[in-house]
Amino acid sequence: MSGRLKGKVAVITGGASGIGEATARMFSAEGAQLVIADMDVVAGEALAAELGEAIFCRTDVMVEDDVAAAILAATQTFGQLDCMINNAGFVGAVGSICDTPYEHWRATLAVMLDGVFLGCKHAALAMRVSSSKGTILNTASVAGLRGGFGAHAYSTAKHAVIGLTRSVASELAPEGVRVNAVAPGAVVTPLIQNLTGADNDTLRKLAEKASPLGQAMYPREIAGAFTYLASDDAAHVTGEVITVDAGVTMAPEVSDFHKADAAFLGPQAALDRISHG
Ligand SMILES: NC(=O)c1ccc[n+]([C@@H]2O[C@H](COP(=O)([O-])OP(=O)(O)OC[C@H]3O[C@@H](n4cnc5c(N)ncnc54)[C@H](O)[C@@H]3O)[C@@H](O)[C@H]2O)c1
Repeated sequence: MSGRLKGKVAVITGGASGIGEATARMFSAEGAQLVIADMDVVAGEALAAELGEAIFCRTDVMVEDDVAAAILAATQTFGQLDCMINNAGFVGAVGSICDTPYEHWRATLAVMLDGVFLGCKHAALAMRVSSSKGTILNTASVAGLRGGFGAHAYSTAKHAVIGLTRSVASELAPEGVRVNAVAPGAVVTPLIQNLTGADNDTLRKLAEKASPLGQAMYPREIAGAFTYLASDDAAHVTGEVITVDAGVTMAPEVSDFHKADAAFLGPQAALDRISHG
């Protein structure tokens, strides 16, 4: 690694597992100091101890005081906040819109959207107080770009996270604070394993089949996008959503059109106009 994040301090919610954990590992390898903010005390403490220049802060992103405390831990322990990653999440409510209990809907949005709002709010406050030109990064999803990629509440929250990202980016740009999101496709993590009940090997094969690039994605690929956005290489990037999905949204299903015999499937008049000028 090349020390791209040397001297930077980051808070990562959901940093104890999956995408957050991989991001913590890559940030640490690139020289960042970290607060791992998660509800999973055992995994979070173990990861912080392993990484060294990192502390764990038990955080429930639904609770405003917890989010504020994680950011305070960064400024008190490491002296500043350069990067806030709002990443904690789960699948939440699944099932038909007709059957979804209101409380399932509310609980999903409380973590997946309100938690991101709280992270943006308290990171912006900390950066404003210290006049830090930091960066705020949110984990969206391809489920935030179109329907059919996630359950209703999850997809709604992720669409809203993208809206929040752009809206907060526009407010904070004059202060030099950049706000961006990463929208992963299916990544082999405990979240997707819990959703599908499939083992890693089955998930890998399914993902390879669904992706135009023929690739399954692992948390490291998403960590790479966060590392870029947190680094000075992205100094001119704000209000963006970087999709990392092995081409799934570019071409949701791999068509077989290219395998057919050459033909023109359309009105003959259009072809005639091109052929005869
Ligand atoms: N895995 C995928 O295919 C995928 C795709 C697109 C987006 N995402 C998003 O990536 C993010 C991370 O998911 P993952 O796949 O790494 O899952 P994961 O289950 O591996 O990790 C999620 C982490 O969030 C923590 N968490 C859950 N609720 C929390 C709360 N209220 N407060 C604090 N921490 C909490 C968990 O303890 C866990 O450590 C989520 O926002 C998810 O929606 C995942």
